[in-house]
Amino acid sequence: MAALQRRKVTVIGAGNVGATTAQRIAESGLADVVLIDIVEGLPQGKGLDLAEAAPVVGHDARIVGTNNYDDTANSDVIVVTSGIARKPGMSRDDLLNTNAGIVRSVVTESAKRSPDAIIVVVTNPLDAMCHVALKASGFPKHRVIGMAGTLDSARYRTFIAAEAGVSVEDVRAFVLGGHGDTMVPLPRYSSIGGIPLPEFLSAERIEAIVKRTRSGGAEIVELLKTGSAYYAPAAATFEVVESILLDRRRLIPCAALLEGEYGISGLYVGVPIVLGASGIEKIVEITLTVDEAAAFRRSADAVKELVDLL
Ligand code: NAI
Ligand code: 2OP
Repeated sequence: MAALQRRKVTVIGAGNVGATTAQRIAESGLADVVLIDIVEGLPQGKGLDLAEAAPVVGHDARIVGTNNYDDTANSDVIVVTSGIARKPGMSRDDLLNTNAGIVRSVVTESAKRSPDAIIVVVTNPLDAMCHVALKASGFPKHRVIGMAGTLDSARYRTFIAAEAGVSVEDVRAFVLGGHGDTMVPLPRYSSIGGIPLPEFLSAERIEAIVKRTRSGGAEIVELLKTGSAYYAPAAATFEVVESILLDRRRLIPCAALLEGEYGISGLYVGVPIVLGASGIEKIVEITLTVDEAAAFRRSADAVKELVDLL
């Protein structure tokens, strides 16, 4: 009988988001994980630490920490978290040039060793970094995806649940647009247990939640002072990776290259997609009101300004 082989996920960047994502993937038992970083000893130390948790947690996924891209060969999924993170007072966009260089080099190295992989970009500024990864990999657009919408939506859902006094599990809501201050939370497509949001919350409260969601990343940066969020980002990244590995075909918001959808061409922006084993299986176009469409367009324009700087 042919031996079953576990899937393989490479996580590039063994910092806060990368290591926490590696932990989630390994502890799910869904895939072996290669954790790679430019800093010598860091991925090896965190990889060993994670491996030593396995007997307690009860999984058999292998975790390798390395500085050598040969160890990443034949990965099914490559998660890119390498780069610098925000400090107080910095916007995600301040990270543009440094992170573009880092993403270009790590994607070039990893993509040639795993030519059939699906790349999940996490490094900020997210939408612009997707363009860098697409170009550096030479992969088709359905295999280069940006993770941000699942995080922004998770924040939005958390705030709605707290305000309405209900379980987070029953809140359905999502956020479109670029992963920046112009992101577009959509109250009209938000519900609690299938009941539209305005049945529970006033327009003023909804507006306050929308505002808090838009600055959800900055709120954590201000509190941490030395870096940005990573528990929710890692959980949201795992949601994306899991949908690919298990071919779940989840309908979730991710950054995808639009080519005519929503009237936008040649730009990565957060939209609802169906995500399965081959990557983006479908970009779902929802109808937007005039105001929603204008907000979405503003957000896309902000992404385009950054992409033009690259
Ligand atoms: P971190 O500073 O904890 O980790 C970054 C890691 O990247 C470090 O270990 C560093 O050594 C490594 N690195 C730098 N250059 C490298 C290279 N050339 N090759 C390999 N590794 C390299 O930062 P953190 O908190 O993990 O954030 C990582 C990135 O993810 C940041 O750009 C951050 O803004 C972004 N982010 C994006 C989110 C999203 O929703 N898309 C959410 C949270 C963070
Ligand atoms: C966040 O939203 C910094 O993009 C990161 O937490």
